[in-house]
Amino acid sequence: AAESPFSVPLKVITPLKPARLAGHDFYRLTTREADVTLLPGTRTRIRSFNGAMSPLIVARRGRPVVIEQVNSLDVPFAMHLHGGHTPESSDGHPKNAVQPGERRVFRYPNEQRAATLWIHDHSHHSHAENIYRGLAATYLLTDDVEEGLPLPKGQYDVTLQLRDAKFGADGTLEWDLHDFEGRHTLLVNGSPRPYFEVAARKYRLRLVNTSNERPFLLQLGDGEEFTHIGTDGGLLPAPVPTRMLQLWPGERHEIVVDFGRYGVGRKLVLTNTYPYEGEAPEVMRFDVVRTAADPSGVPDALRPVPDLGTSSVEREFTLSFNPRTGEHLINDKPFDIDRVDIRPRLDATETWKITNADTQFGIPHSLHPHLDAFRILDRNGKPPAAGEAGLKDTVTVMAGESARIQLKFTDHEGLYMYHCHMLGHLQMGMMGQMHITR
Ligand code: C2O
Ligand code: CU
Repeated sequence: AAESPFSVPLKVITPLKPARLAGHDFYRLTTREADVTLLPGTRTRIRSFNGAMSPLIVARRGRPVVIEQVNSLDVPFAMHLHGGHTPESSDGHPKNAVQPGERRVFRYPNEQRAATLWIHDHSHHSHAENIYRGLAATYLLTDDVEEGLPLPKGQYDVTLQLRDAKFGADGTLEWDLHDFEGRHTLLVNGSPRPYFEVAARKYRLRLVNTSNERPFLLQLGDGEEFTHIGTDGGLLPAPVPTRMLQLWPGERHEIVVDFGRYGVGRKLVLTNTYPYEGEAPEVMRFDVVRTAADPSGVPDALRPVPDLGTSSVEREFTLSFNPRTGEHLINDKPFDIDRVDIRPRLDATETWKITNADTQFGIPHSLHPHLDAFRILDRNGKPPAAGEAGLKDTVTVMAGESARIQLKFTDHEGLYMYHCHMLGHLQMGMMGQMHITR
């Protein structure tokens, strides 16, 4: 199934249709196996939401979304809205995984600023495989502030879910937690290295990395300039012209690309300039095929970062790998579902210093606290780059480096997680629990 690149069109994902009930939007998502075509000419068994890979939910600030999850898989599934400001009961704690044959209702209040979020499994032992086999949905939260800006909208606002996979010759998805460098097929919205026919105008592209472990270091054409406008927690304070973007597992970036610069007939390849050994760098291709009016623009100011106040609590998190046990550790400990690691107070501003101590193996790690987004104060003592100056919910730290983040947990008390978003590491213990109280 070694397909040549750019032989299949990108599937533009259309949002699922909710039932519009009084006071909320309602969806029923059945997690079940399905046979779909990912590689041309073959069928692949995936784990799906309602039979599809990578569905899309569009929600609006102030209007709750209620999802009834029906688990028709033969493994547990704990639905988690990554980046969601979600009450404990709906946050998908592994203790609350929905067992095979069961159903559960999840409630997302959507009382947070517009951002590109995503839904994935958080069960304790099968999350990495569930996500790998297809259970990753994008969740776009919109609001008035964002819609008041002249950014590209409608068909010119496109979600691109990036990930890797390994296929057998017959199209079977091959799974091995530890062989992540063998996953050489890059998929965008479930299609292998697709092409996307675009108009010669501006597009807003929302990039979501749903891979278990793969980073993307993205470049357009021969280093064309595009505009970075948003990250995990929504729009940046100001647009950042850039030619290269790092997208680590769990992270999101939003960019505006002006294909109007190129004219009809031009083809631009998006490449991953950090491929694994023996692997092609192409991710997808944009083919400019028609002209179109373009009333959109990128304003000089997008959205200021909220003031999180002055920190009254400092914590340190050291991330490391234990080669003897194969475990990945936070502060020398693997995850223990019966241990609470930290007890943050609601509304207290905290500074967390995250250090990647894996100098021996050079493994990158990240930290993703649930419940609230944060801002990056510094990396190795230096202020963050302009593209990291917005709200984030996942920060990746290279071996031997450290980052400090500032965060404040608000509104919801309860038991939440924080963890590395390299899913193999998470499965091998790189997670802690926090109990947030008044
Ligand atoms: Cu994207 Cu705790 O997860
Ligand atoms: Cu890690």
